[in-house]
Amino acid sequence: MMMMRALGRFAVAVMVLLQSTLASAQLDPNRTPPSLDPARTANGLAPTPPMGWNSWNRFGCEVNEAIVRKAADRIVATGMAGAGYRFVVIDDCWHGKRDGAGFITADPARFPSGIKALADYVHSRGLKFGIYSDAGAMTCGKRPGSQGHEYQDALTYARWGVDYLKYDWCYTGSRNAEEAYALMAEALKASGRPIVFSICEWGQNQPWKWAARIGNLWRTTGDIGDHWQGKRDWRLGIVDIADLNEPLAAYAGPGHWNDPDMLEIGNGGMSDTEYRSHFSLWAMMAAPLMAGNDLDRMTPALADILLNREVIAVDQDRLGRQGRRVSRDGDAELWARPLADGGAALLLFNRGSRARAIDWSAADAGFAPGARLGVRDLWAHRALGSASGGRLTVAPHGVIMLRLTPASAERTHRG
Ligand code: GAL
Repeated sequence: MMMMRALGRFAVAVMVLLQSTLASAQLDPNRTPPSLDPARTANGLAPTPPMGWNSWNRFGCEVNEAIVRKAADRIVATGMAGAGYRFVVIDDCWHGKRDGAGFITADPARFPSGIKALADYVHSRGLKFGIYSDAGAMTCGKRPGSQGHEYQDALTYARWGVDYLKYDWCYTGSRNAEEAYALMAEALKASGRPIVFSICEWGQNQPWKWAARIGNLWRTTGDIGDHWQGKRDWRLGIVDIADLNEPLAAYAGPGHWNDPDMLEIGNGGMSDTEYRSHFSLWAMMAAPLMAGNDLDRMTPALADILLNREVIAVDQDRLGRQGRRVSRDGDAELWARPLADGGAALLLFNRGSRARAIDWSAADAGFAPGARLGVRDLWAHRALGSASGGRLTVAPHGVIMLRLTPASAERTHRG
């Protein structure tokens, strides 16, 4: 009996010692910060670029729970869920105040049922649920940010059933970006729930150089606008964004993606031809595909774009190699992306305002010169026979997107 008591006291003493050592290690200013830990890895999520819908591009700060529920319903009803769109993400402006203990709450006027109920609803539709916060004192929409509340917020998100966090960079003062994002990544890990981590610091601190160890996707540019080219207010055109994101190809791969921002398809500022180019360029760049339109007002032409499974298959290709521009002749460009089946996607892209004949060859797509390839047009949904090159006329601001399959792989595919 005496022996048992002594053992018990010893065990308690060991635990107290262990806890205080851990606590002082956490407080130790010389401790390696999580961002500098050489063994650090991200969370193992997002083997292919995340797909879903986000409230910001269409609804901005006017978002509310009815809009989010409706989006979840429409993602299922339109067939988008079946095509791979899984995450329903509320962007900025869902927040209310922090409670007396510092926990974040939802805006009671816009989200009267609370975020947990909304997440449950999204999950009941077979989808995943995402939310937004900011590494600074406030979000860009001036709601409470997560700075100083990282662990509390991560815990709250996990309790609500959050599967995806977009984490912005407004009002961060002199914070070190890598450190700030690593801290939230630690908090998310500690919450015990798998949560895809979307880093949104607009490419200001070259996140492609450090963020693969911290999160699953990182914005490479400032905000996208619903227009073709040039800056409008602070927003960039889709062509400008493609140009900024393209040279970063080497940094992307399974679990860690360059994010050239969310889709503007269907928001009314561009033609269907331009929206097809937008979607194709994003697929060539292995970009996350987050639709940003009002899914209740989707024309058949827009649905044909967002639901083009052949283009989505390129985006989601499991090899995860981001495509590159391989040639440029004035407004005529070729972009190529190697695919897991040994084939490649090839984009004939006309930036100009006149129709343009564009030549392509097997060598442009990384095959031996003269190699015979099965050629499929991913917008016409049509096989174009076999060829080792050709010339095709591309509409102004348009694309032709081809999937090229080497003859041997074709035979294998046909069994
Ligand atoms: C920006 C971000 C946008 C959107 C917005 C919300 O910083 O790039 O995608 O999240 O904040 O206020």
